[in-house]
Amino acid sequence: MSKKKNKKAKGSKKIKKALEPFDKYDLYMKSVQAPEADVEFFDKTYKEIRGKRAHSLREDFCGTFGITCEWIKMNSKNVGVGVDLDPEPLAYGMNCHYAQLSAAEKKRIKIYEENVMSVETDPMDIIVAVNFSYYLFKTRLMLRSYFKRAHQDLKEDGIFMVDCFGGPLCMEPNEEEKVFDDFSYFWDQDKFDPVTNEALFHIHFKRKGEKKRKEAFTYDWRMWTIPELKSLMLEAGFKDAYVYWEGTDKKGEGNGEFTRVTTAEDCGAWVAYVVGVK
Ligand SMILES: C[S@@+](CC[C@H](N)C(=O)[O-])C[C@H]1O[C@@H](n2cnc3c(N)ncnc32)[C@H](O)[C@@H]1O
Repeated sequence: MSKKKNKKAKGSKKIKKALEPFDKYDLYMKSVQAPEADVEFFDKTYKEIRGKRAHSLREDFCGTFGITCEWIKMNSKNVGVGVDLDPEPLAYGMNCHYAQLSAAEKKRIKIYEENVMSVETDPMDIIVAVNFSYYLFKTRLMLRSYFKRAHQDLKEDGIFMVDCFGGPLCMEPNEEEKVFDDFSYFWDQDKFDPVTNEALFHIHFKRKGEKKRKEAFTYDWRMWTIPELKSLMLEAGFKDAYVYWEGTDKKGEGNGEFTRVTTAEDCGAWVAYVVGVK
């Protein structure tokens, strides 16, 4: 090995020492997830619709199951179930979230490494599928089958909540950067097909002093509209399907507060919840 090469190797070692090992789940958690706000919305919405508190929640497509853990911490009567078929995010969740729960809290949580289409769990007050995970079902038939399973696995007065997003800005290729203290998050809308409503998205990360790490996560999705989601929930057996739309702050940005609506003003990009009432 030449001297020059040796020097370079020493230099890169120095940079590596200064940074934590790259962990895409850690950066995803810091840039995308807000489990405290999520469980607050689920708790409040169930209470608004049913007039009582929910105590059991299943998080489908749970990944690192941050929501399930937050649900457990919210109330000592709460039980939580997470379902995901990929052992990798589940292992991250075990080390990062589950490990921080008390012994009593750990007794109230169950994690299934299984398919949401075949998992068997106790009847639940609430089932959620968030961060648009169910967009991987690309046909009405598949999505209706999933909604039917959620309906079947709820208690008689259970409710099902999914988030969704849309607007013209989400239907064209573009890349948005969000800057955090020591890294940047990129939401890359790679492709959109107006005939099928299928879309390809990626998440990239760039930590300070490092090159961009492309395609840490990739999503091959079908963009579902709110009217489609409502009608599929009704076809799956739900008595009603409500829409919760995000309010705006003074700058016109989303404020994280969702209220029930029957119509909404058009905007470039929006996020909403559709809530199926059994
Ligand atoms: C977009 S990630 C969302 C993770 C998590 N909900 C969040 O908010 O961060 C989608 C997750 O769904 C899981 N998944 C995909 N198909 C599944 C299926 N049929 N059953 C269970 N999990 C599935 C993947 O393993 C992945 O962890």
